[in-house]
Amino acid sequence: MKLTELRNEHEVILKVFDHVENQLAKCRDDALFDRIVSDFLLFATLFIDDNHHGKEEGFLFPKLLANAFFQDIPHVLSEEHIYGRHLVVKIKEALGDRVVQSREIANYTDFMRHHIRLENEMVFDAIESGLDDSIASALSAEFARVESDVIRSAGPAVWERLIQNQMVEIEK
Ligand SMILES: [Fe+2]
Ligand SMILES: [Fe+2]
Repeated sequence: MKLTELRNEHEVILKVFDHVENQLAKCRDDALFDRIVSDFLLFATLFIDDNHHGKEEGFLFPKLLANAFFQDIPHVLSEEHIYGRHLVVKIKEALGDRVVQSREIANYTDFMRHHIRLENEMVFDAIESGLDDSIASALSAEFARVESDVIRSAGPAVWERLIQNQMVEIEK
């Protein structure tokens, strides 16, 4: 069973981190800085948390809990998702202070890069080689439902703008 969709989303997230950090580093205009951060926060909430973590927590982790060999993994990863949310709040709280906000963004992106590396290199490899192929199609149907729910609640126009602004393409 391959977790291609989740791996592709990891690539999107990493690209957006690089892109946003580059943009912020060269930004000399306060209003533009605030706009980039505001879009980034929307991306962190909608794409990373509601969509990507929604798929992992809603459907992947419960499958792992049912497998004695993988039982500890979801707890560790869920704790990391919670800590990531806390770091997003810290970015929001620093609104109006570019220096602190840049530092909080770096804290968040560093943490999430580590989380993604852990999932890609340790967790997903183990899952892909240890779980039954038969759940793959069920998982992808469930993932599609999570994503369409997020797009519907955010509004398709917001979702499009979010993805376009980050200049990335989502591959399935
Ligand atoms: Fe995760
Ligand atoms: Fe992930």
